[in-house]
Amino acid sequence: MKKLLSIRNLKKYFPLAKKRLFQKEPLYVRANEDISLDIFEGETLGLVGESGCGKSTFGRVLLQLYPQTSGSTLYFGRDDEGLDLAKLSRSEMRPLRRDLQIIFQDPYSSLNPRMTVGQILAEGPLTHGMFRRGDPMLKEHVLRVMEECGLQEFMHSRYPHQFSGGQRQRISIARSLAVRPKFVVCDECVSALDVSIQSQILNLLQERKEKEKLTYLFISHNLSVVRYLSDRIGVMYLGRMVEIAPTDALFGSPAHPYTAALLSAIPTTDPEGSGRERILLGGNIPSPVHPPSGCAFHPRCPQACDRCRTAPPSLREVAPGHFAACHRAFPE
Ligand SMILES: Nc1ncnc2c1ncn2[C@@H]1O[C@H](COP(=O)(O)OP(=O)(O)OP(=O)(O)O)[C@@H](O)[C@H]1O
Ligand code: SF4
Ligand SMILES: [Mg+2]
Repeated sequence: MKKLLSIRNLKKYFPLAKKRLFQKEPLYVRANEDISLDIFEGETLGLVGESGCGKSTFGRVLLQLYPQTSGSTLYFGRDDEGLDLAKLSRSEMRPLRRDLQIIFQDPYSSLNPRMTVGQILAEGPLTHGMFRRGDPMLKEHVLRVMEECGLQEFMHSRYPHQFSGGQRQRISIARSLAVRPKFVVCDECVSALDVSIQSQILNLLQERKEKEKLTYLFISHNLSVVRYLSDRIGVMYLGRMVEIAPTDALFGSPAHPYTAALLSAIPTTDPEGSGRERILLGGNIPSPVHPPSGCAFHPRCPQACDRCRTAPPSLREVAPGHFAACHRAFPE
């Protein structure tokens, strides 16, 4: 499989304003801490983890919507050498923005209420020079994208507020896909929708992915939704990637105690239960400003040992393509 993105030692720290007059050291929210992974062309990589663990930050940093604090993000969509997105200037990054798109959670606030659906969908293709203003081919292109995304022609001259949440999310998706991207970050893009609408949107995303050979980073706190779409899944805890594996392997044999706890909490409609005993995690999620020593999960981990309190575990391969950052997964 060809790599589309290769991320190494990515960190994203947000500086905190100084609270105390004599505070010497600047403080940071460590939203992403030393993340390394590859994303392959044509795959859907799911990303899960509790609120605040750094999923959205990671998605935005990949697209360089936030500058990364350190590390490299090689993008192979334009050539085999790879371009380090973290090193590009704004003007060098501009043409690549066409390739790298994002679909947000809230289709209510992310669509400009003063623009018609047609104008919203024409904006990206115009910005990226795919068409000139007034070119009749532009309207044809927009109508084709609308049709591909299940939007009817009459909607072209209407405004987003005239439509339901599901239709608005289709407009958001169409806006991202109108520039014919290669990589799309879907950030909780069905979370705000009714359950009955969610599956229609997931099916649309899946269909477009197959037709247009897209690659997705699919972020959601809902593991069942992520399972439905993803080829592989990454699990984040306190800014770190603690496990990454093919979807079936992750659900079938989770190697990290945090993943096991997340899976055990999935509600099930099966009267026999999921076959998993519910693992209740004690304590609160620690602050990403002062993460715990050693393994950041140790204060809540039911399997923590002395080593866990001092030595941070690195992400290592437990089975082909299955990585976990846990000392217990590699007994000494
Ligand atoms: N622009 C910002 N400035 C300062 N801190 C930020 C900023 N964006 C995110 N953070 C902090 O970084 C951490 C990670 O946030 P992020 O939004 O990436 O988490 P998330 O996993 O997407 O959470 P959720 O599931 O709630 O969307 C949090 O502690 C958050 O408060
Ligand atoms: S390294 Fe230790 S504390 Fe961390 S997840 Fe593994 S067993 Fe738990
Ligand atoms: Mg988020």
